[in-house]
Amino acid sequence: MAKMRIDKLLSNTGFGTRKEVKGFIKEGLVTVNGRTVNDPGLIIETDKDDIIFNDEKIFYRKYIYIMMNKPRGVISATYDPSEKTVLDLLPDDIKARKVFPAGRLDKDTEGLLLLTNDGILAHKLLSPKKHVYKKYYAEISGFIDEDDISLFSNGIVLDDGYKTMPAYLEIISSGSISKVYVSIKEGKYHQIKRMFESLGSKVIYLKRLSMGYLNLDENLKEGEWRELTDNELKLLLLSVE
Ligand code: URA
Repeated sequence: MAKMRIDKLLSNTGFGTRKEVKGFIKEGLVTVNGRTVNDPGLIIETDKDDIIFNDEKIFYRKYIYIMMNKPRGVISATYDPSEKTVLDLLPDDIKARKVFPAGRLDKDTEGLLLLTNDGILAHKLLSPKKHVYKKYYAEISGFIDEDDISLFSNGIVLDDGYKTMPAYLEIISSGSISKVYVSIKEGKYHQIKRMFESLGSKVIYLKRLSMGYLNLDENLKEGEWRELTDNELKLLLLSVE
């Protein structure tokens, strides 16, 4: 049975920082099993106690799932001594829940990044065994043709000799700068850039559009984020079944 301090539980559930929540408790806005709470350190049994905050029943959710439209120039890490990280784009109450990026995007890659504290789901999403395809939009310097599609579907040998798993290439337009969609189910270091390098081309723009059945919300501007809706979470869970 999970136990937790009432101030931590309320803060984790998104009602404010620990300090703000302590203030709400002082104001008498929180009751547990019908009794007004005075002590912010009161220990709660998360799946049993009846918690009311400001006349609203609280359902504790252990995990949090955030969709971010990662901008260029920030790194997909939880901490870095000199670089700005994706965690720096989140407020303190979300960071306090120990979220981390489920899979990395390069510093200059944009698009869908999932941040969560659900390690099991993150692991499944990233495991090639689960066959969760991640789809990217890419702009490539150089012509791309049908031959490249079949090379991608056979797997591409990278500079270190590793042969990638089958990947899907869709050509939107081919020219001195080509536009394509690429879908891969692994996450080797700089994988898409290195796949195109093996073909003698260069990725000049890369944006992740989806992970499994979860699509990036087009209304999220670069650097913006929000929690997944219940439906999106269902789609994500379906992707790793
Ligand atoms: N492949 C890359 O080369 N970079 C990314 O950020 C993601 C996939």
